[in-house]
Amino acid sequence: MSATVMEKPVTETPEVSKQKLIYLDNGATSFPKPEETYVAMDRFYRAYGVNPGRSGFDLCLEAGSLVDRTRKLLCSFFGGTDPNRLVFGYNSTDALNLAIFGLIAPGDHVVTTHLEHNATLRPLWMLEHEQGVKVDWVDFEADGWVDPQKVIDRITPGTKAVVMNHGSNVIGTLQDLAPIGKVCRERGVHLIVDVSQSGGAVPVKLDEMGADVICFTGHKSLMGPMGIGGMYVREGVEIRHTRAGGTGVKSAQRHHLDEYPYRMEYGTPNLPGIAGLNAGVTWVLGQGIEAIHAREMALWKKLRDGLRAIDGVVLYCADDVPGKQRISVLSFNVEGLEAADTGTMLDVDHDIACRTGLHCTPMVHEHLGTDRIHGAVRFGIGPFNTEAHVDAAIAAVRDIASLRARKK
Ligand SMILES: Cc1ncc(COP(=O)(O)O)c(C=O)c1O
Repeated sequence: MSATVMEKPVTETPEVSKQKLIYLDNGATSFPKPEETYVAMDRFYRAYGVNPGRSGFDLCLEAGSLVDRTRKLLCSFFGGTDPNRLVFGYNSTDALNLAIFGLIAPGDHVVTTHLEHNATLRPLWMLEHEQGVKVDWVDFEADGWVDPQKVIDRITPGTKAVVMNHGSNVIGTLQDLAPIGKVCRERGVHLIVDVSQSGGAVPVKLDEMGADVICFTGHKSLMGPMGIGGMYVREGVEIRHTRAGGTGVKSAQRHHLDEYPYRMEYGTPNLPGIAGLNAGVTWVLGQGIEAIHAREMALWKKLRDGLRAIDGVVLYCADDVPGKQRISVLSFNVEGLEAADTGTMLDVDHDIACRTGLHCTPMVHEHLGTDRIHGAVRFGIGPFNTEAHVDAAIAAVRDIASLRARKK
């Protein structure tokens, strides 16, 4: 797309969001959702809201068919080959826990980075402190990207897994995982990738990354609801059970099932979530991921340039770097103000929603030095944002910065 940003959103903004608030917190969750997401969830519960795969009556088969179709849809979306290896869970935190605790054992060595979310950090810290797992942390460079070679250099014969975030939820940098994945495959190391922010924002394909497991969440750029997510597990990778429960099939068996998807699914699935996720992903595919990304990045650049021109605004890792990609989140602070104060003024005085604080990624803020000032302000651009929203955000931050300057 050219530098000119379309004023019109990708499609009509759903009714529910036609309110005064300018929502720029899409990094936390996308809002609004496409109309299709709401309709699909409502329709599921009214028309065939029964437990799938447990009986043979028509509604049950229809519910089961929704699950199967959504498995196929997401399997192909992430470049998988076996829909049964696309398993559903609550969100990416849930999937990362299953993958991390199910693939890493006491005494193993793991490589990860300072860009990780607590969904990865906390399971790894638990393993480090309770099970003697050795964890190596790789820093990101000053521009915000991790040097793949630095990750590769930490891989040793004892390394069991590399666990990495694809798209940063604070600085928006998109890591180049292919070189790391290639080495992991050659050396028999599991590459577990957190695609919470990138899934639906940019094309994400398991094999292009060389990943063994990718963990996704439905409620961000996949445009589904909260409480649904999961993972794709590459053929040949067998994650140990760390839970057990009902699967609706082979009920007499004493041990939890080994075959996918049952291996990693426990209890009644989130069917309304699956219905909404199916509709969200179908909507994303209909718009075209590249088109959505190009449009969001054009808005992001406008926002970045506008904020950069304001005296007293500090942006974090927001420079263009040739050949490197990013997603549409941007973090900044106004000099002399706590992030939370800037966020309150954006909300109360300007009706703009953002996210402030440490964004569940404490190591990113420690690296940036923003942990000492309680984090940063984050804007996250979504498919329903417009140029007018970005103009309003720039004007609001300009206003806040000038108020602050007058108080000095
Ligand atoms: C990079 C990253 N990983 C993991 C998560 C966790 O997502 P969820 O809360 O949906 O499990 C998030 C959510 O903010 C994220 O941004």
